Amino acid sequence: MTLRPVKGMNDILPDEVGRWHELEAVLRRELELSGYAEIRTPFLESLDLFVRSIGDTTEIVEKQMFSFQRGDETIALRPEGTAGVARAYVGHALHAKEPVSRLYYLGPMFRAEQPQRGRYRQFWQAGAEVYGDPGPGVDAEMIDMLVGILHALGIENLEVCVNSLGSQGTRARYREALRAYLEPKKSALSEHAQKRLEDNPLRILDSKNPKDRDAVQGAPSILDLLEPDDLAHWEGLKRALTALGTPFVVSPELVRGLDYYTRTLFEIRSTAGELGTQNAVLGGGRYDGMVEELGGPKTPAVGFAMGLERVLLAMPKRAAAERPRCFIAPLGERAATEALLIARELRQAGVPALADTRGGSLKSLLRRADSIGARLCLVLGDTELERGVVALKDLVEKSQSDVPRAEVVARTVAALSRPPGSAATPA
Ligand code: HAM
Repeated sequence: MTLRPVKGMNDILPDEVGRWHELEAVLRRELELSGYAEIRTPFLESLDLFVRSIGDTTEIVEKQMFSFQRGDETIALRPEGTAGVARAYVGHALHAKEPVSRLYYLGPMFRAEQPQRGRYRQFWQAGAEVYGDPGPGVDAEMIDMLVGILHALGIENLEVCVNSLGSQGTRARYREALRAYLEPKKSALSEHAQKRLEDNPLRILDSKNPKDRDAVQGAPSILDLLEPDDLAHWEGLKRALTALGTPFVVSPELVRGLDYYTRTLFEIRSTAGELGTQNAVLGGGRYDGMVEELGGPKTPAVGFAMGLERVLLAMPKRAAAERPRCFIAPLGERAATEALLIARELRQAGVPALADTRGGSLKSLLRRADSIGARLCLVLGDTELERGVVALKDLVEKSQSDVPRAEVVARTVAALSRPPGSAATPA
């Protein structure tokens, strides 16, 4: 029986991993340029953390947690990064060390969703959180930075959706207004939405079911219920985004699947590349109540998380950069040991080198060098050993020269630094 990975969890093979590295490098560089420092929190947390922060009537907590019992504690694989970062922020009293903390993270998250393209049970997120800055300016700065990052990655056709949920009081009043609006239409709602009408009617707003979409047409907008302070924050956000030149769409139906949000909410969607219906490449917002809820002081917070698989689906596929590689083909047992020494010397000089000491004919070794995409092949057999040389073959130039053993590293480095097509005459 062939063993498969767990449903919705994917292997990332060596030929794909280069694009991941490229993406991760851009993200780290851009986030660090904006003053974020990396934080690494555990993949496992107490289930209670997610129930308290994300909310017990959310899809994530109700249906998508991977959790298990260990002693008398229920432990869960993290479905997202914000709750763990907030727990660490409170637990290490980071608020006492600096007035504003800017933290980022990168790693796998786990949600037992129905897998499809762009939606997996293990997926990677890069995210960032700012603690201690209440103003809408930092929200706008974050959205603007994210648009810049996506453009730098070559992702076009972006739609930046923004909304405000006000404070917890606004949410409660809106819940009632929405319930009152939908109650007379209850029988027209999907079965799932009928249940949501009782415990979390806001979730009906982003239902994809056509019945629910029809029913919410004309529903009251949360933006009409904002209290003066929340309204000033919302207006401030729109002004700042306009001043930064970041186009956005006001989306009152945007509620997102986590209960911790207050005020600003945003999501960036794209129709680029191979993204299908799962077109939200990132989402985030403000969650001014979470730090206090987890036992810390009252601290405003805002953050985002980006799905790396989705970004990779949206990113144009660039030609892989040529990797100058050096393959060493020893012929015979004595040469095999020498090949290991040469490989070590090359690596010490920073040249990626691979010695194939399995034995075999020159023809089969050259075939292997070709298959790994090597630019150079160093061949040595008994004759070369006796003469104190190594044959240096340029597989792209189709040229060959004998190089004194003592000069192998310097000549290899020189050959790799020459672009193919500019060959020097063999010595
Ligand atoms: P989220 O919207 O649940 O927010 O996830 C953020 C992003 O992660 C999504 O926009 C999507 O790109 C990606 N994502 C989510 N679920 C999956 C999945 N099953 N498969 C593939 N990609 C997925 C959060 O997680 C919040 N923690 C964001 C945040 C940070 N809010 C404040 N701070």
